[in-house]
Amino acid sequence: MAGSGNGGGKRITIRDIAEKKRRQERISVVTSYDYALASLCDGAGVDILMVGDSAGMVMLGYENTVPVTMEEMCMFTGAVGRARKRSLIVSDLPFMSYQTGVSDAIANAGRLIRAGADAVKLEGGSEMASRIRGITDAGIPVMGHIGLQPQTAGLDGGYRVQGRTAAEARGLLDDAVALEEAGAFSVVLELVTRQAAKAVTEEISIPTIGIGSGPGCDGQVLVIHDMLGLYDAIKPKFAKRYRSLSDEIAGAVSSYAGDVASGVFPAQEHCFEMDGAEFGRLAEGLKKGRTPT
Ligand code: KIV
Repeated sequence: MAGSGNGGGKRITIRDIAEKKRRQERISVVTSYDYALASLCDGAGVDILMVGDSAGMVMLGYENTVPVTMEEMCMFTGAVGRARKRSLIVSDLPFMSYQTGVSDAIANAGRLIRAGADAVKLEGGSEMASRIRGITDAGIPVMGHIGLQPQTAGLDGGYRVQGRTAAEARGLLDDAVALEEAGAFSVVLELVTRQAAKAVTEEISIPTIGIGSGPGCDGQVLVIHDMLGLYDAIKPKFAKRYRSLSDEIAGAVSSYAGDVASGVFPAQEHCFEMDGAEFGRLAEGLKKGRTPT
């Protein structure tokens, strides 16, 4: 099985993810939010299903991830949890579910674990170390997320590439070390220059998972809607498109609408039949102007 590295059948664990970095094997991560696509991704052999708060944009149509709630994240996590057979599930703590304090962070991480996650992810550098320490002390594995942080990007000049200068790259290195020391089992590097991402990956002993951060990371994550061409509102330069499913889906739905309009659908093979004798009784009754009992 592609990317399994653990013998195929058994569930991927946090320990397997750490081992992958030690053996210099790449880690594959894809976002998942619903039962059907999560089953396909799990069956396709991806290492981690990430229930990202990007769900707010691609599943719920919000403009950004800020409005996403704990209830919504628990619902998406539950659907992915019911689909998963093998991959590790990491769910995002949404905006203001952990920034407000360590005890909120622990309680909300616990809700995601109850809903079906194996680990949680939160955004932020050294200023979030206390949250990571608190959640890991409660027994819940945490993935960090530095570089571009979509939940607070509005406060930081919007979506911009991080680590272009030596000083910025140094800041990323310091944050990554702080997250590792706080107990994170891995860290997402979003929209970081490939040189800075490689430096961070070489500096820390936990795996880095890159998105828009080049090949020097220990693993890669893509939003499934970007990868499959299902969401056209934003087309990030870094997101490789493996399919253009929006065209295929629009084509299929327009054929369906045309078939309904012309009466081609439903055809004989889509219908259920009455028993012949019963139909005879019905026809007889209708002729006499009453429905037989
Ligand atoms: O919300 C999300 O999907 C993410 C990943 C893309 C890293 O945070």
